[in-house]
Amino acid sequence: MAARHRLLLENARQLVLVCSRGEEYLLREGCASLAVLQDASLVVGLDGCIKAVGQTDVIRNQFSGAAFERIIDCSGKCVLPGLVDAHTHPVWAGDRVHEFAMKLAGASYMDIHQAGGGIYFTVEHTRKATGEELFSTFKHRLERMSRAGSTLVECKSGYGLNLETELKMLRVIEHAKQSMDIGISSTYCGAHSVPKGKTATEATDDIINNHLPKLKELKLSGEIHVNNIDVFCEKGVFDLESTRRILQAGKDTGLQINFHGDELHPMKSAELGAELGARAISHLEEVSDEGIRAMARAKCAAVLLPTTAYMLRLKQPQARKMLEEGVIVALGSDFNPNAYCLSMPMVMHLACVNMKMSMNEALAAATINAAYALGKSDTHGSIETGKQGDLVIINSSRWEHLIYQFGGHEALIDYVIVKGKVIYQNERCETMSSY
Ligand code: NIG
Ligand code: FE
Repeated sequence: MAARHRLLLENARQLVLVCSRGEEYLLREGCASLAVLQDASLVVGLDGCIKAVGQTDVIRNQFSGAAFERIIDCSGKCVLPGLVDAHTHPVWAGDRVHEFAMKLAGASYMDIHQAGGGIYFTVEHTRKATGEELFSTFKHRLERMSRAGSTLVECKSGYGLNLETELKMLRVIEHAKQSMDIGISSTYCGAHSVPKGKTATEATDDIINNHLPKLKELKLSGEIHVNNIDVFCEKGVFDLESTRRILQAGKDTGLQINFHGDELHPMKSAELGAELGARAISHLEEVSDEGIRAMARAKCAAVLLPTTAYMLRLKQPQARKMLEEGVIVALGSDFNPNAYCLSMPMVMHLACVNMKMSMNEALAAATINAAYALGKSDTHGSIETGKQGDLVIINSSRWEHLIYQFGGHEALIDYVIVKGKVIYQNERCETMSSY
């Protein structure tokens, strides 16, 4: 009987591997020039992993006589790895459209936060929402992210601040992990803000003495599997010492450190993260030169968030300097009620224009390097034999259109695929062939 496979993509005009030698991440020149095949095909096996990738005639010979559950003709199209969104806050109730108006009128993020709005507004609404309500909006957001090409997304808690609501959020994320095809890396972010009525030290003690032991217990009973620990290390939120205590305690319970640092004020978060062995630090608009060097030495990824800097009119993170110093640069959408953007193609565009990254660097940052930031670059982030078959097919003969056409992903993306299974198919892709 003929061997059976899940998926054959054939005749792609360009097949963007990103990298091809099992690299964990790409630095400097590595992300300046990516591995791209012309006229190529690929096969995903029944296990959801990439079985073969190469020139169309070679793959055709290798698999002559094989059976496929699905064949997609990619003539005139490009295939890319599924995009990885390395930083999102997607579980919440209570949008903040009214605050957007305030910010446009001149209020700063911290003005609103200190007046009891911002994260506190969302916390109030998230505490009142049921798990079912939170799941339903979260699911819809994940679907929108996947339609924009994301196949692996980091998802944080952090709008509960008390144990009960943090657990409600983490259960919602766990439910999505089990029931949806999109990949999820989950993050406990109970230290997203100091809850009203507590000091930062009291909140830190509560997290270390109550929240983290509970997470450990729920992991052992198989109920919730959290991957990362996060803290908002910021002036007026958690200072460096509280951040250190929380992150160290999280690391001791087996979580990867991945936190918000040096966003609005220079805090020496980068230096702390490097010292603690953090996997990644996000934001870094105010990082010091020494912090950049420490992150490069420690192989601690910088997750840059172009939407936030754009929306809050902050100074842009120094992507060029980080790249030159050998930092692993990744990207995230930072989707949250402050920065409402679900699209990694738009994030890459902003990274290119505002942070002066090249399109190759932006794609590496939104694939292999974002996967590294989540500790998943052995299975995600590039098109290589043995990796998970997470793919995006765009209706264009040059892959760069995905970045160039700002806000154009809806018309460009024909298919989004996770483990060789089509999770999104643009309704017009059967009838129209190219733009
Ligand atoms: O990454 N800076 C802290 N956290 C989020 C904002 C969350 C919110 O405002 O709700 C961020 O931008
Ligand atoms: Fe964030």
